[in-house]
Amino acid sequence: MGAGQSISTEFFRDELAKNFLSDYAAEHFEIASYKALIATAEQIGEHECIPVLEEILSEEEAMARWLEERIPFAVRESLKKTSSAAS
Ligand SMILES: [Fe+2]
Repeated sequence: MGAGQSISTEFFRDELAKNFLSDYAAEHFEIASYKALIATAEQIGEHECIPVLEEILSEEEAMARWLEERIPFAVRESLKKTSSAAS
């Protein structure tokens, strides 16, 4: 029981930082996907959907920037939890 608790506590201490990193990676996958969709739309002549795709791409890029700016905070908070749990 104690070993299981130790493992779960260890896992959750850095959960915030891991979530930020995971979300940041997911946003960049979405950015790449929208860029691919825009290139595809251009290639096949579906130009009317490009403004919508570009608008969504801008939103994904803004979210990635928002996360990027907060990664240091998330890491500091996770390290605080780690150091307070160790003492
Ligand atoms: Fe997104």
